[in-house]
Amino acid sequence: MYINKLELNNFRNYSQEEVYLANGLNIISGKNAQGKTNLVEAIYLLSTGGSPRTANDKELIKIGAERARIFGNVMWESGDRQIEMILSRKEKKRATVNGMNIAKIGELLGNMNTVYFSPDEMGLIKDSPDYRRRFMDIDLCQLSRSYFYTLHKYNKILKQRNALLKGDKKNSAKELIGIYNQQLAGEGAKLIKQRKSFCQNISLYASEIHGSLSGMVEELVISYQTSAEGDSESDIASSLIQQLERNFERDLRLGYTSVGAQRDDIKIMLSGIDVRTYGSQGQQRTATLSMKLAEIEVFNNINREKPILLLDDVLSELDENRRSQLIKRAENLQTIITCTNAEVIKNKGLSIVVDNGKIVNKK
Ligand SMILES: Nc1ncnc2c1ncn2[C@@H]1O[C@H](COP(=O)(O)OP(=O)(O)OP(=O)(O)O)[C@@H](O)[C@H]1O
Ligand SMILES: [Mg+2]
Repeated sequence: MYINKLELNNFRNYSQEEVYLANGLNIISGKNAQGKTNLVEAIYLLSTGGSPRTANDKELIKIGAERARIFGNVMWESGDRQIEMILSRKEKKRATVNGMNIAKIGELLGNMNTVYFSPDEMGLIKDSPDYRRRFMDIDLCQLSRSYFYTLHKYNKILKQRNALLKGDKKNSAKELIGIYNQQLAGEGAKLIKQRKSFCQNISLYASEIHGSLSGMVEELVISYQTSAEGDSESDIASSLIQQLERNFERDLRLGYTSVGAQRDDIKIMLSGIDVRTYGSQGQQRTATLSMKLAEIEVFNNINREKPILLLDDVLSELDENRRSQLIKRAENLQTIITCTNAEVIKNKGLSIVVDNGKIVNKK
């Protein structure tokens, strides 16, 4: 799929702009602070309902304006889809797909899939488990609406269980906890099962990509790391219940739930060695890039259509070899690249220059 037209009204530093995008490479260049990332952010927003940079939607509305509108026309093989989002300072955000109102943001997901890569993503390996869980969750939410709802439900139950543990009615906690354990384990097992299979898929593609990027015979293996045992949903759920019960007294002391899907992680191994602890900078970068590129293949495999690749400022982070390998792969799908120096990818793709919230050369 690809987005061929984006309209922005009072979004970030844009007043009113129309951007026409090509299928294949799009190079967005311009000086610092002109609106390159803002443009990519708008596309990401239409795809996931949220910004990769902030949880506060109000920041996205142009300073001094009351509301922002973002519109995208997405071309699927099955036909095009129009996605519109309205952000307001006073009201909740609203979205429509093909003119139909969306009741919950979950219904937006899957109408335009994106894989997002920015320098922050370089932390995928180094950063906390929280970061790696988000990596899985964002993709799984885009790939499956039911995953989104399960995740939502899981977080709600977790919050309630934690409130019970933290509260001063410790005796009633003992009576009620059984119900929470059951619910949390049930939803948690669904999440874990899907995350495991996602990691297996990512691993499959990432190891192949890693080989071609590094030109080395290192084997990249990615697996889901969880305390829950078993492969079937019911086995995972019973294992979770046991662990929740076993850790109840400790959780009560801590005031939060110390086991479950909210504590899981991804293990990233390179020829049997943990890249996170022992990998060199170069190995970590290549492994990160391999994982990001593997995301594209996983989307393609499940949806039979490639997602849109958003590369914000990552070219400068990569050496010549990795950069050219990345661009080679990026040419096979719609890719939107931002950079301050378009020279590095001269004569390739559609060039769009951003200057102080204005799109300079439109198609
Ligand atoms: N809500 C807003 N209203 C108006 N302007 C905003 C708003 N949010 C951000 N900006 C402006 O947008 C500009 C930053 O845009 P953006 O992050 O897209 O820059 P960029 O072109 O990606 O720059 P860099 O090359 O440094 O990454 C800044 O000038 C900032 O002040
Ligand atoms: Mg930027």
